[in-house]
Amino acid sequence: MTATLGIRPLDASFGAELTGLRIAGDVPEADFQAFLDALHRHHVLLIRDVPNDPAAQVAFSRRMGPLEHHAAASAVHPTHPEIFCVGNYAADGITANFARGVEQWHADSSFREVPSAASLFYGAICPPEGGETWFLDAVGAYEALPEATRARIAGLKGVHCLYTLSEWNRRHTPGRAPMDEARRRAFPPVAHPLVRSHPVSGLKSLFLCPAVISHIEGMSVEDSAALIEELMEHATQERFIYRHSWRVGDLVVWDNRSTLHTASLFDHEKHQRLMFRTTVAGSARAA
Ligand code: OGA
Ligand code: MN
Repeated sequence: MTATLGIRPLDASFGAELTGLRIAGDVPEADFQAFLDALHRHHVLLIRDVPNDPAAQVAFSRRMGPLEHHAAASAVHPTHPEIFCVGNYAADGITANFARGVEQWHADSSFREVPSAASLFYGAICPPEGGETWFLDAVGAYEALPEATRARIAGLKGVHCLYTLSEWNRRHTPGRAPMDEARRRAFPPVAHPLVRSHPVSGLKSLFLCPAVISHIEGMSVEDSAALIEELMEHATQERFIYRHSWRVGDLVVWDNRSTLHTASLFDHEKHQRLMFRTTVAGSARAA
């Protein structure tokens, strides 16, 4: 690392905690580069005890590249529109996006023509139990596939669709409104390879978002679902997973091009949860 930064692996086959990095203010270029290298090497980085400072989160995130504005405009932060608010919190001008935390593995904004490169997720209010975020090493999962399966899925493309996700959410979170026509037109279905190569590391990984993929190109919906289920059964083995229990002040940064993640349940009638997400745009179509 650098003179000020330290790194310590998480209790999983991937992911690391980075110590000594202050997000606010002028992060020295050497520290920033070390952070980026660590992200590409470990796929998920945890930084603890980060002060709640939305402006600093946005400024630091922006250093990684242009930021996306979330497709669900109602849940953006009132003073920092680059921040997407997640959880059941509704006060102070914030209405966080609350989806029942059923398992829904995905990489962020896969429904975009150019999916996100990385996300930064900050724990502002965290329930004392539950509400973990689970991460999956999509590179390790790909590499552990039998050769025959790798050959079978090479070249296949999943069709990712925000409307498919929206309907999935409606089935699991009663009362959600259907997606309107304008948004449907703004986010038409887009095909991405099931196996993609990371633009920096070159590593191949599984790009599976079961609730977002309507089907695999050239396959029936039933056959597509069966193949995705088979691959997900492999990829969700415990050895590829890291479950993050949140502490207030945690900032977790994940590489959307080498990992998948999902929210998990918490007692939303008893506890509050408020998370701030900034999302770094990708720079090229998934290849
Ligand atoms: C997200 C997300 C997981 C969580 O905001 O992109 O997947 O634990 N969140 O809320
Ligand atoms: Mn996500």
